[in-house]
Amino acid sequence: MIKTEVFAHRGSKGTHPENTLLAFEEAVRVGSDGIELDVHLSRDHELVVIHDETVDCTSNGKGLVRELTLQQLKRLDAGSWFSEDYTDCRIPTLQEVIDFLIDSQFKGTLNIELKTDHYIYPGIEEKVMELTDKKEIQFKLVFSSFNYQTLIRLKKLNPAVEIALLFEKNGRDLLVLDTDIMVTMWHPSLLWFREKTLTDEVKTAVRLWTINQSQELEYCFNQRVAGVITDYPEKALALRKKLETMP
Ligand code: G3P
Ligand code: MG
Repeated sequence: MIKTEVFAHRGSKGTHPENTLLAFEEAVRVGSDGIELDVHLSRDHELVVIHDETVDCTSNGKGLVRELTLQQLKRLDAGSWFSEDYTDCRIPTLQEVIDFLIDSQFKGTLNIELKTDHYIYPGIEEKVMELTDKKEIQFKLVFSSFNYQTLIRLKKLNPAVEIALLFEKNGRDLLVLDTDIMVTMWHPSLLWFREKTLTDEVKTAVRLWTINQSQELEYCFNQRVAGVITDYPEKALALRKKLETMP
């Protein structure tokens, strides 16, 4: 039995317009163990789900998310850039995604990445914690960020939450992974992971991103890491199933 969980990156980024309700619907449909998304604050301080600091790449608009109001963001087409099949896609709020997952009776893990690595977005940690502190939420939550200060703020707001530090290259990761009391999980890049020799115990606290190729997925499953964050959750789940049934 392979315990490595499959997390759907930005919904199902490889098959649907990322960070939209359609992508999250697909992630649920294929049975993803976890779903990852990214949050920023709009000009009027609403939590919105989008990857970049600007709307330029994943919508028909232009400009910084932090300089646009929710109403302005909602007018944008967030699907056509991906395919002309998706013309009625909007940038969702975090609230809308959470409501959708509650309605879908999702029982996996929602990984909320706070995108505070370029802009600080004062108050974003409080808003995320307030929004996710609801009894209706029956799925697990993990909060991740490349910004260590964001994780510290989250942990101070609620010491019981699971936080995960994202990193790509050497930096804060040079800390001894299993002795950092603030961080409960580690979300490094595959590149970093391949260069390290970690104990089996530490690997159970590691989720790797972004793992899309079959060979890489198989490597991660064999490494028995806690999770893979992938743009192709359906493919990853099928591969895991195939490997599990092999003698
Ligand atoms: O959580 C893994 C991954 O989402 C981190 O990088 O840039 O895709 O948000 P990015
Ligand atoms: Mg992300």
